Amino acid sequence: MSIRFAPLDQHASPAIFRDIAEIHQAEIPNGFLASLGTPTLQKLYKQMAGCPAAFCVAALEAERCVGFIWGSSDTSAVYRYCLPRCAGSLALPLAARVLRPTMLFRVWETLRYPSTQSESHELPRAEILNFCVRGDQQGRGVGQRLFQALCEGFQRRNVPSFRIVTGEEQTTAHRFYEAAGAVKHSQIQVHKGVASRVYLYQPSTLQTVSAA
Ligand SMILES: CC(C)(COP(=O)(O)OP(=O)(O)OC[C@H]1O[C@@H](n2cnc3c(N)ncnc32)[C@H](O)[C@@H]1OP(=O)(O)O)[C@@H](O)C(=O)NCCC(=O)NCCS
Repeated sequence: MSIRFAPLDQHASPAIFRDIAEIHQAEIPNGFLASLGTPTLQKLYKQMAGCPAAFCVAALEAERCVGFIWGSSDTSAVYRYCLPRCAGSLALPLAARVLRPTMLFRVWETLRYPSTQSESHELPRAEILNFCVRGDQQGRGVGQRLFQALCEGFQRRNVPSFRIVTGEEQTTAHRFYEAAGAVKHSQIQVHKGVASRVYLYQPSTLQTVSAA
């Protein structure tokens, strides 16, 4: 079956946002967002699809999503857009988790990281918010097609460079980004005691990414 690549908006079917949430949870199970649960993640992604500062390209096979990439021109702006809109529908699922002190701290760390990183390391505000391909579809070039579409999306928005934050343990992602021409910039701790690796994708590399 063939895979097509398409921008995603808020009017996409609920099944697609559910696929995105499930792929996210399967591929990045230890991240903070995965811990919120599938229904919460599904709602967050639907809100994000309506945010002017964010965009998504989905890999679709028979109207189901098998991979996705999200870019943002300003992650703080994405939070400012999504959080008030999510407050009503997400209050209960978030409250159950946020009441745990460790979870409350992780929420605070997640919210403060975009601005602190931009200021302290002079990094671009734009970044890859998330990027996953379903396990059974990995290694077939789907990721390269999504990454290429993201670069084109950034170029259309006149974004000259962007950052990529990965977990230190995400070795598959490191291999991918380095092969694509991203340059390792620094190591940070979004969450205390957990190392993350920051890559920078610059204008010169934006122009040389080969179409898959
Ligand atoms: C990272 C991820 C999205 C890549 O998706 P994918 O569909 O498997 O990627 P592809 O098949 O297109 O590319 C894989 C290969 O192409 C290479 N590649 C990527 N871009 C390239 C480029 N522009 N030129 C040449 N090679 C390239 C990669 O290094 C990799 O090589 P390998 O097989 O030797 O490891 C996928 O592995 C994934 O979902 N991982 C788990 C979630 C995750 O870690 N996400 C990152 C969050 S920051």
